Amino acid sequence: MKGKFITFEGGEGVGKTTQLRMIREYLDQKGVDAVFLREPGGNAISEKIRAVILDRANDAMTGMCEAMLYSAARAQLCEEVIRPALEEGKLVVCDRFIDSTFAYQGVARGLGSEKIDTLNKLACSDIMPDLTVFLDLEPTLAFERKGGADADDRLEQEGMDFHIKVYEGYKLACQIHGDRIVDIDCSSEAEVTHRKIVDALIQRGILDR
Ligand code: TMP
Repeated sequence: MKGKFITFEGGEGVGKTTQLRMIREYLDQKGVDAVFLREPGGNAISEKIRAVILDRANDAMTGMCEAMLYSAARAQLCEEVIRPALEEGKLVVCDRFIDSTFAYQGVARGLGSEKIDTLNKLACSDIMPDLTVFLDLEPTLAFERKGGADADDRLEQEGMDFHIKVYEGYKLACQIHGDRIVDIDCSSEAEVTHRKIVDALIQRGILDR
């Protein structure tokens, strides 16, 4: 495919939204034709699935049901939006993707990597990120920065043990996929983190200098 695909990953409160805004402004200034998406979501069907997953009323949802709903939302996003954009040669930037399912459902919910790898392959077929930016900040610091968990978000409402496992899951993904995932320490100011991300994108040949 002609385009490039990059994904942003990280736990709650690490500053992902801020970094996505900054990279969007940077790409706009450079005149890069980029499509910004979020997971779960990015199209009408996947946004509906998102609402079901995050609804606090659904606290009886099993880990496998959750993993399959994330995968269902991803399958729709891949075929409806990501593949056509890549075929047109666009840069696609997605807020979360397969590594979220690995860290949250595979590790934190304990489903294991084998089932998650199978689900991810079914959902994505040949669509894989060219580069994944992992925003690395320990969950205790991240929640301090964020000022607590969002009351309306079922996943955020999980306890600190859960978020520590998510973090460990991401660190494991960084070890397994060191060729694809770049681990960016984001404990400093947002501007410093932004610079590191831009440098990584240039080094990996996603952006020109
Ligand atoms: P957001 O907070 O980045 O909008 O993401 C929504 C929540 O969904 C967040 O708590 C992470 C979670 N999530 C998973 O548990 N598995 C996944 O595969 C994805 C994409 C997100």
